[in-house]
Amino acid sequence: MSPLPIVVLISGTGSNLQAIIDAIAAKKINAEIRAVISNKPGVAGLQRARDAGIATHVIEHKQYPDRNAFDAALRDCIDQYQPQLVVLAGFMRILGDGFVQHYPGRMLNIHPSLLPEFPGLDTHRRVLAAGHTQHGASVHFVTPELDGGPLLVQAVIPVQANDTAESLQQKVHQQEHIIYPLAIGWIAEGRVQYENNRIFFDGKPLEKPVQIPACNAY
Ligand code: GRF
Repeated sequence: MSPLPIVVLISGTGSNLQAIIDAIAAKKINAEIRAVISNKPGVAGLQRARDAGIATHVIEHKQYPDRNAFDAALRDCIDQYQPQLVVLAGFMRILGDGFVQHYPGRMLNIHPSLLPEFPGLDTHRRVLAAGHTQHGASVHFVTPELDGGPLLVQAVIPVQANDTAESLQQKVHQQEHIIYPLAIGWIAEGRVQYENNRIFFDGKPLEKPVQIPACNAY
């Protein structure tokens, strides 16, 4: 099978991008990152991409008069690479409905909580404030509802008495680096289908996300 062509969108550090680059290099997933696009110049993730020999682009939202103009420029840039999958990896910009609907079942996001709990920002502090005993990360398909699309896989970690927002952030991040390549690998293997807002995994409807306990590798 030819590698799954993907484009990755970032806004910052790009540690999830790095995990995907590494998983491809280690031949754990059969994918090819055709380009990395950032809405912020100078971020570390762009250097990670360049170091891996991947084409990079910066499309600064500030340079466009409105969301539609930015979304159109971003879409044109992505589409020249003809990806089968668009991967949001710490992309901190809300995308318009038209943009999202342009990639039905072809855009993934990773979010640092066990969605549908704690959509939005500042998840680690909110989990602690709510006294939850479990936390984690979720990979989901992107729909117009923010952090609300169908869930594919989650990593679950226990919240311990001495955890802080910082310690949770670190632990969750580590799990993201495992489940994001895992999810992309499943898609590359053709194990995941998406129809009318529903995920089919190995030919069966996925009623709830695949949940994996915290681990060090896959
Ligand atoms: C991750 O925590 C991800 O869940 C969130 O943004 C962060 C990106 O981190 N969407 P990085 O840039 O991949 O290191």
